[in-house]
Formats: sequence, C-alpha cells, structure tokens
Amino acid sequence: MKKINYGRQSINDDDIEAVINVLKSELLTQGPQVDKFEKELSKKFNTKYVCVVSSGTAALHLAGLALGWKKNDIILTTPLTFVASINAILYCNATPDLVDINMDTFCIDIIQLEKKIKAYLSRGKNIKAVIAVDYAGHPCDWKGLRKLKKKYNFQLINDNCHAIGASYNKNKGYGSKFADIVTHSYHPVKNITTAEGGAILTNNKSIYEEVKLLRSHGINRKSLKLKTKETWNYEIKNIGYNYRLSDLQSALGISQLKRLNKFVTLKNKIAKFYDRNLRNSKAIILPREKKEIKHAYHLYPVRIKFDKIKVNKSELFFKMKKKGINLQVHYVPLYKHKYLKEKFKFKEKDFPNTSLFYKEAVSLPIYANLSIADQKYVIQSLQEIVKL
Ligand SMILES: Cc1ncc(COP(=O)(O)O)c(C=O)c1O
Repeated sequence: MKKINYGRQSINDDDIEAVINVLKSELLTQGPQVDKFEKELSKKFNTKYVCVVSSGTAALHLAGLALGWKKNDIILTTPLTFVASINAILYCNATPDLVDINMDTFCIDIIQLEKKIKAYLSRGKNIKAVIAVDYAGHPCDWKGLRKLKKKYNFQLINDNCHAIGASYNKNKGYGSKFADIVTHSYHPVKNITTAEGGAILTNNKSIYEEVKLLRSHGINRKSLKLKTKETWNYEIKNIGYNYRLSDLQSALGISQLKRLNKFVTLKNKIAKFYDRNLRNSKAIILPREKKEIKHAYHLYPVRIKFDKIKVNKSELFFKMKKKGINLQVHYVPLYKHKYLKEKFKFKEKDFPNTSLFYKEAVSLPIYANLSIADQKYVIQSLQEIVKL
C-alpha cells in the first residue's frame, strides 16, 4: 500500500556522500564542517552571524538566554505553533502569553498584538519580547511587527522554522533584517534537514558571542590560553549546555542547503497544483498568500467546512489513512493543552480565530519528492470523502 506522509525529507546521493566523507575523516564533531555550514547559512540568509545548534528548540532556548529573559518577563507568542516556541520561554522561567492569529496568514495578528501590549501597559507592565512564527512557511507581517517593536521597545524573535527559503519583499534574509534573532529547525519534515538540528541567525555580535558560549557548556578556550600560555586550559564563563551540531549533520546541512531553492520551488508547484484542483470544492478553503511574500510551503493547511459535509475530522483522517495518506493537524493550539491552560489561565474565548482554524485545519501532504501521481491521488481521495 502507498504511504504518503504530510511531510518528509529529500535525500540524494550527494547528501549521502557528504556524510560518508565526514565518517571517513578525523573529526565527527566540532570539525571544519560546522564552520563551513555556518558560513553558507550566513551567505544564503544575508546575516552577519550564524551559530548552528542541535535543534530548533535549542535555538529558541539560547535566543531567550542571550536576550536575558528571566522571571516575571512577559514574552508573547502565537497559540498556533509547536510547543517548542512556548517551552523556550518556560526554560528561562519567564511568563508566556498568547495573541490570536490573523485569518489571512495564520501568523500572529498585529492588531491583537498591539491591543495586548496596551492592556499590559495599562496595568503598568511592559512586554519583554515577542516570538513571531512564520506559520506553514508564510512570513508574518514583518513591517508591522518592526513598527510595534520600535513603538513599544520589545525584543523580536523570528521563529523561522517553517519558512526557511521564504521571501518577504523579495528578501530571503528578511528575518534578521526585522528581528533581533532568527531561529531555524532542520528536523526532517522542514525545508532542509540535518536529521536533528537548528541555527540562530543574528546581525548582533554580542548575541552571537553569547549563544556560541552557551552552545558548548559556557566554555571559553581562547581567553585563558592567551593569558597563561596553558594550551590545555579553558574558562567557564557561565552555565552552558551541550547544544552542538556535529560535523556529520553539518555536512548534510551544507549539501541540503544547495538544493533549498529547488525544494521551495517544487513545494510551490505542488501548492499551485492543489490550489487549481481543489479551488472548486465548496467545502474547502485554501491557504492564501499576501502579495509581498513568497511562501516556503513547509505545510499546506486547508480549512474544511466539516459542518457542511458528512464526515468529521477523525473520520476523514481514518478514511485517508486507509488509503495510505497520513494527514496531520498543525497544531493543537497551545491554550488547549491542560498543563499550559491551567498554569497560565488561558481562555479559549480569547482566541476566536485560532479556535475556528483548529476546528477546520488539515495539513495535506507536501514535500519535494511528492510525485504528480501522488498529488493527484491525494486530491482524488480527498474529493471522494469531502463532498457537500
Ligand atoms: C514553529 C516551530 N518552532 C520550533 C520547532 C522546534 O524545532 P526542533 O524540532 O528542531 O526542536 C518546531 C519544530 O517542529 C517548529 O515547528
């Protein structure tokens, strides 16, 4: 039977050779591939400094630490994201709060964001930072976010994990232009992969130096060596982590990065094919694109009007699974998780857009190697089940 997942990696012979070459070399980790990958990322995304790390979650955690988040700092993000976005806030003992999504982009809504900031200000509280997630691969309203950043003086993080290879006003490096820190994930379903992996991109030198220290136990090898000529010695500057990316993973990343444009083009083609063939289904609402962006289509989320058709979401998933198609929902909104809801007193009624989206959303399969035949199979299978 066919097995079509909502997303998957695309690995070719060059990727395999790159990893084998590292396996045959002297250094499996902390070798030359790490620096090389960082340089390539810096060029590709037009960002001064890049620090690769062990995951997108690690990237967000180090971003929070480098920005000095601590107890009682209020950090805002979207409820429509993977739990890693909020966990990074909790790792720093800061306080998260959520802002509803915009129904065109499914990213944080900047009108609601300003309302929330004003509400905090009226209680004498400032916002420390905002984590804006480019949901599904559609960039947020970055000009709007930047304006608010200037007006209210908060730190801005671009959780860019979904939108690697997207553009905003034709600029692929928009993240570090508008935000203080950009974070990537290279998990296999993302637009490029290193198996597990991630990166922090920034134009700020002191942030870069801080995350580099934190990535590897807070160890500084240079300062003592120079002072004492004790070549074995090193200094521990602060509590740090082992969030390193290996040479094996970096070599895979370098090879994958060469094909990022191709992956994004292929995913856009698949999205257009779905658009053309699903446009006439009255029970399906397609994802939209703002004119100033190029979508990276990490996901292709459609909204299905389940109240108008004969099957519910669970039945649709079950029937599609029987045909070998694994759908997914991105995401169970953060305020719905019992732990978070109880701890932070989130109320579903504060997030009408996210609640509506969650009721309807289904992510269809989209990945670079999804064949035309399989795209047609997905469309045909969906149309057989989603009938008015
Ligand atoms: C929006 C978002 N942020 C952060 C992460 C965390 O990335 P990783 O799985 O590499 O830790 C993910 C991963 O799914 C994500 O989708």
